[in-house]
Amino acid sequence: KRQLHTQDAGCRWHFGAAVVFDIDGVLVRGKQTIKEARRALDMLNGQNKLKRRIPFALLTNGGGVSEQDKASQISAMLGTRISANQVILAHSPMQALAAKYKDSHVLVVGGPGRQCADIAHAYGFRNVSTPNDIVAWRPEIWPFIRLSPEIRVEKRAFDQHPFAAVMVFHDSFDFGRDLQIVTDVLRSREGRLSAEYVGRQTVPLFLSNADLVFSNEYVRPRFGQGAFHECLRAMWCALTRGASLEYTRYGKPFAVQYRHAEQVLDALVEAQNSSVCEHRRIYAIGDNPAADIAGANAAGWTSILVRTGVFSGTNDPENPAQLVVDHVGDAVEKIIDIEH
Ligand code: G3P
Ligand code: MG
Repeated sequence: KRQLHTQDAGCRWHFGAAVVFDIDGVLVRGKQTIKEARRALDMLNGQNKLKRRIPFALLTNGGGVSEQDKASQISAMLGTRISANQVILAHSPMQALAAKYKDSHVLVVGGPGRQCADIAHAYGFRNVSTPNDIVAWRPEIWPFIRLSPEIRVEKRAFDQHPFAAVMVFHDSFDFGRDLQIVTDVLRSREGRLSAEYVGRQTVPLFLSNADLVFSNEYVRPRFGQGAFHECLRAMWCALTRGASLEYTRYGKPFAVQYRHAEQVLDALVEAQNSSVCEHRRIYAIGDNPAADIAGANAAGWTSILVRTGVFSGTNDPENPAQLVVDHVGDAVEKIIDIEH
């Protein structure tokens, strides 16, 4: 450890250390905050025996809001200041897809209204539709629930506007309807609704959050976007007599998310006019072994598992964390001890 300190002595990014927090199950649970979260962030903001700040970011598989709105929401809940450039949402790295699809017509799935379409616009996608827009065009496409009149829609003749891609940005707020519409698009000739079904996938699919479950105020874990993926795969298999669905995944635990997070951390350090260390150590604090711990271990980060979210127990047998602690306060204390 000494040797690492000497090597990194020229670096003002506290000897090359940084911390990445998961949000749900670590800092908050639904609308409730986790008691130790504020103190954990205060410690990183300099209230520690090192008397130095340690850069940190929030890396969540949540989404459906902008990075700015998530930063404001968590800042207000915890009574601290987190900026948008410290926030990585499940769909944040999907901005890169705009290079290819900026002028293509894409279906963005997730959330209640057009919020995800607005986020996609901000990422550079110029031609975005949502399942609500499609229901407004042909309500009989999903006859079981009527579209609420308050929902903002952009109606168009979808049989004249084929889709070039489907992107799931957030949890489906209506699994049945979205399964129907997504499979319709994926198997229709040229991705054109109302065209005949062809026996194969006609449009690429991008998914943003593979979490089967996540943790909110309810006593037991709730279905996440990954549960929708499971349903979609099963429906696709049933509809195509066994063909497998092709897709590209974003979010934890996939490497794309960790590369993006490392770029975000480097940018934070550079913004403080510090140099990026070669020997940086990144600590990930999470509650979901399959997402936070698997991803951090694969990225070569130090993984810390807490017991305030989906996990309880000694350690996860499939994706063991390097450290297991009760809560985020203990996690940050351990990090300060290691760095001391
Ligand atoms: O819907 C969000 C959930 O799947 C995970 O959020 O912050 O625990 O990665 P987080
Ligand atoms: Mg979590």
